Amino acid sequence: MTTPSSANAPALTQDELKTLVGQAALQYVVRGEIVGVGTGSTVNKFIDALATIKDQIKGAVSSSVASTERLQALGIPVFDCNEVTQLAVYIDGADEIDGKGYMVKGGGAALTREKIVAAQSTQFVCIADESKLVQTLGKFPLPVEVIPMASQRVMRQFQALGGSASIRQKDGKPLVTDNGQCIVDVTGLQIADPLAFEATVSQWPGVVTVGVFAVQRAHVCLLGTPAGVKTLT
Ligand code: 5RP
Repeated sequence: MTTPSSANAPALTQDELKTLVGQAALQYVVRGEIVGVGTGSTVNKFIDALATIKDQIKGAVSSSVASTERLQALGIPVFDCNEVTQLAVYIDGADEIDGKGYMVKGGGAALTREKIVAAQSTQFVCIADESKLVQTLGKFPLPVEVIPMASQRVMRQFQALGGSASIRQKDGKPLVTDNGQCIVDVTGLQIADPLAFEATVSQWPGVVTVGVFAVQRAHVCLLGTPAGVKTLT
């Protein structure tokens, strides 16, 4: 299903596509409940839209310090994950998504908390601009949150799979996640079987979370396209 835009309208920028899907996601927010909120520039658009209906929801469970700060600044109450048993819906972006809703996530280093909140949610609604839609996962460098002591070993394991791995840097130093760990980014992988890949890598000692979201796949994807918001289910 596509919500059409005017044929003569100028092409929307990537930022405008993100705004469009951020606003479209409001229709999935269950009024009177707590909503799961992801992380990233597309989710920031959703948070801004969510603020317009903040009186109609109880609040949010957030997947990162960055999203928590944005939610609170807009007056949206943030609940700890442990205060909530099950969320009806989780709204988050993706670095890549395929036609089955399998995703690569973690470009914003928030993958562990994102996977936790997604696991606690009945429905995952992914919001993304059309550049994120792929046939096969693996072009975007795969983020993996790793306990620093295991980083070299985990990188060697990815090299054995044909990948090339590096530790993500920030300000000239290894990036430290909200959980106090590091991120290994892996290029050169073709992830043909996301479920099997996620199951394998998740078992490697020292891996906290692999950025393949296969068990926690998206049930709905709102894709921003020049023709409007396309809904993939
Ligand atoms: C953060 C994520 C984001 O959802 C992903 O990186 C997409 O971000 P953006 O909307 O800025 O493109 O997984 O860890």
